[in-house]
Amino acid sequence: MEILYLSRKDIEGLNVSMKEVIDAVDNGFRLKGLGRTEMPPKPGIHPRENSFIHAMPGYIQEAESAGVKWVAGYPSNLEKGLPYITGLLILNNPETGIPYAVMDCSWITAMRTGASVGISAKYLARKDSRVSGILGCGVQARTSLMALVEILPGLKEVNCYDLFPEAVNRYIKEMSTVFPKLNFRACSTPGEMMKGVDIALSAIPIVNDPRPPLNAGMLKQGILAVSLDYDSAWTGSAMAECDKFVSDDINQLLATKEHGDYFRDIPEKIYADLGELASGRKKGRENSTEKIFSLNMGISVEDMITARLIYNKAVEKNTGIKLPL
Ligand SMILES: NC(=O)c1ccc[n+]([C@@H]2O[C@H](COP(=O)([O-])OP(=O)(O)OC[C@H]3O[C@@H](n4cnc5c(N)ncnc54)[C@H](O)[C@@H]3O)[C@@H](O)[C@H]2O)c1
Repeated sequence: MEILYLSRKDIEGLNVSMKEVIDAVDNGFRLKGLGRTEMPPKPGIHPRENSFIHAMPGYIQEAESAGVKWVAGYPSNLEKGLPYITGLLILNNPETGIPYAVMDCSWITAMRTGASVGISAKYLARKDSRVSGILGCGVQARTSLMALVEILPGLKEVNCYDLFPEAVNRYIKEMSTVFPKLNFRACSTPGEMMKGVDIALSAIPIVNDPRPPLNAGMLKQGILAVSLDYDSAWTGSAMAECDKFVSDDINQLLATKEHGDYFRDIPEKIYADLGELASGRKKGRENSTEKIFSLNMGISVEDMITARLIYNKAVEKNTGIKLPL
């Protein structure tokens, strides 16, 4: 028995586009909405303050993709010059259970997370959204912008804020090379970043005792706000101000809330999850004035469908190293 090992470099070399990842993840959400996936809420351990290492198992029948992602998030890595998010993903044969691939999960995580933001925008943003606002100019904010550009062709302006001005400068320098037609604006406060924003994204470290910088009164009519950082960036009153509160998975949201560390202040009423929207079971945006909040925790269906896409391409292109099991 053999496994195929794929490093981050191997995966990057496959040149899978954001459009391909969005299509795959959207299909994953659709299958989830139709009840054709198995995905228990993710358990985690927390060896250091504000850190997590999560196990994210999932199975998607139609894609014949089964496996688990073992992913760590360490905010303190920043000062060590190490990435916040690292980890591995294992694919298992659904017929025998035998593992057949092990791969780096940092590229997959970044791309499928960005794709989830694009999918939230597909169902929940105004089609004529022009201005986007970014809080936390790191890895996920880069792939999220890639996805927003795919979904919202009218996007013109990007307001950027980060605790560290040099992170904003790096982001603008890099992303304006990729998207020369977008106008980037470095903002000196979170409030300034939110001005006139049609689609807001927060991607700062998840912390246990958050002091969220984004508050009620900052969200304009017709906005879509997407959180990738649990409840670290938005106050309960900011979320409560929204007409619809959506998540990527209601079960996981409620299980995490019950655990007690996060989501103490989220609204009682959860309108839908992305699976229900992608499968057409619930309507997304219904008019141009609703304020909508999408809390995307990250779910294993996104990983399993993307990992299978990567594996198929790797086999096709004869990439990676075969190792004995
Ligand atoms: N929901 C998902 O699917 C998903 C997936 C991956 C990562 N994440 C989360 O997204 C967040 C960002 O991850 P990343 O990989 O982009 O990390 P990153 O370290 O690359 O970027 C985080 C950025 O936030 C900035 N920052 C820190 N505190 C801030 C504050 N108070 N205000 C403004 N900016 C601040 C940092 O300077 C950094 O530039 C993390 O919370 C991570 O856990 C979510």
